[in-house]
Amino acid sequence: MTDAARKARWIGQLKSAGIGEAAVDLRHILLAAADDAHVDDMVARRARREPLSHILGDKPFWTLDLKVTPDVLTPRSDTETLVETVLKHAGDKSAALEIADFGTGSGAILLALLSELPNASGLGVDISESALAIARENAFRNGLEARAVFRTGNWADSVEDNSLDIAVSNPPYITSAVIDTLEPEVRDHEPRIALDGGDDGMYVYRFLLPELFRILKPYGRMAVEIGYDQAEAVSALAGAAGFADIATTRDLGGQPRVVSGHKP
Ligand SMILES: C[S@@+](CC[C@H](N)C(=O)[O-])C[C@H]1O[C@@H](n2cnc3c(N)ncnc32)[C@H](O)[C@@H]1O
Repeated sequence: MTDAARKARWIGQLKSAGIGEAAVDLRHILLAAADDAHVDDMVARRARREPLSHILGDKPFWTLDLKVTPDVLTPRSDTETLVETVLKHAGDKSAALEIADFGTGSGAILLALLSELPNASGLGVDISESALAIARENAFRNGLEARAVFRTGNWADSVEDNSLDIAVSNPPYITSAVIDTLEPEVRDHEPRIALDGGDDGMYVYRFLLPELFRILKPYGRMAVEIGYDQAEAVSALAGAAGFADIATTRDLGGQPRVVSGHKP
């Protein structure tokens, strides 16, 4: 079989499994695979709707290369909007800022921020010990381990009052009933604990926003990722928690993606 015929066969296999970006996925697989047998195996996994990030074992995020396994949410490019929003408001980038990321997963947000803020140090909290093992590996992989600590915990429970300059989170915010309607890559392969935001998707924001207010220093900033239809409700919760200067930032697709504010 010629190269072109083999490629056409692999693309056909992916397309008939319902994968829209078959050619793009195949290009990534070809770059990662050692030989044709390896490509066959990776294409078969992708055709069973395993996420490409799980098959390749990594995912670029911001300027970083992150290890990804089924234990962590695959970082989304939309989440880079949160990183941008925080950096825009960070003021003096060389300051010794204290940052925390709640529900850190792969460590994506915290590590991206530390990579841009050379004197900052950060805490990543997650309830999943297996996610934190990946986050720690990612800190080493990107040379940020000296400034990043990862700790098991329930949101901000173990963090002292008035202790942080920046507090961020991309909490689970998908309505429970919607999860079963999502693409198989997400529904069957990503940790449900990373997705499920309860009956109305707002479960975590209700207690997390007052918690972020509690742990921030005066003038400290918070930023949380939101679902496309949650800007108004999350902004209202941020206002009720005491935050000022509350703003929504849109992602590259034009959808509301981040709510941020500062502690007066
Ligand atoms: C939407 S994922 C975000 C992962 C990562 N920060 C990102 O943006 O790619 C939400 C994360 O919250 C974590 N999580 C869920 N419940 C938690 C809890 N009670 N305390 C701390 N983290 C929790 C999940 O394990 C998951 O890693």
